[in-house]
Amino acid sequence: MSAAPRIVVTGKIPEAGLELLRSAGDVWAWDHSEPIPVDIRDAQLSTADVAVTLLTDRVDDAFLDAAPNLSMVANVAVGYNNIDVAAGERNGVIVTNTPGVLTDATADLAMALILMSTRRLGEGERLIRSGAPWQWGMFMMLGVGLQGRQLGIIGMGGIGEALALRAQAFGMAVVYHNRRAVDAATEARLGARLVGLHELLETSDVVSLNCPYTETTHHLIDSAALGRMKPSAYLVNTARGPIVDEAALADALSAGVIAGAALDVFENEPDVHPGLVGLDNVVMVPHLGSATIETRSAMATLAARNVVEVLAGRPPVSQVSA
Ligand code: DGY
Repeated sequence: MSAAPRIVVTGKIPEAGLELLRSAGDVWAWDHSEPIPVDIRDAQLSTADVAVTLLTDRVDDAFLDAAPNLSMVANVAVGYNNIDVAAGERNGVIVTNTPGVLTDATADLAMALILMSTRRLGEGERLIRSGAPWQWGMFMMLGVGLQGRQLGIIGMGGIGEALALRAQAFGMAVVYHNRRAVDAATEARLGARLVGLHELLETSDVVSLNCPYTETTHHLIDSAALGRMKPSAYLVNTARGPIVDEAALADALSAGVIAGAALDVFENEPDVHPGLVGLDNVVMVPHLGSATIETRSAMATLAARNVVEVLAGRPPVSQVSA
């Protein structure tokens, strides 16, 4: 009888995912909130058939070299820029991600950030907590309303579509920029219009980043792109930090090139550009897009389903390719 496949989980994941993994093999899981030390990770990988990874793991040649028996990496995230998929393919390693299950949670957070930045909620909260005296005033901390404003969505995948629906409910007009147009019925349902990147930047009141991070989208929002935006516009990033040149954004926000920004993701997580920290016109939260109990459980379960399928000799539910 051949031994059960060995599944190494490199970080803490919800129990629902672990339970499913245990039905498919012999599971070892790093059970601490801090990242797994490389020596422990490599020792575990040396006999692993499957690795279940988080977006904080770099799956590169060094990772793959430490895992000579590896046939699969199941990333518990929809984004997989932490994985060198081409290197995986060269080594015969299947790579999967978790699309779909975090769409609503991430779109909810993007909408929350749009409201937070346009209504200056972070600033207001900081004022109350500071203990500084305040009282209601006709002109105190005025923000801008969303009704009749234009949202420009860069990257019209599932999360972009879900955000467009939410924005519609707030009375916003939606334009989008994408590699290709979504189908006409979806465009009609979302009330969204495809435009070029420059037009989107120059005409939108809020620009939301919902595209994957790739070589092409690295620093897509740099000082030139920020310079194209209206001085009254807001930038929202719930995608990946390095899509934005954070130093350029800090400069643009302090010089009033744009009105504000709201960031869930950062260029060098967990570090934040020091130029952003003291600014009142930026809202920052620590990569919380998918952080609901239900969503994290669904992500772990989908990653585990991928593992179950592959170990049973069937195609995975959500494989990615280079
Ligand atoms: C993802 O799955 O890519 C998200 O960034 C996790 O929050």
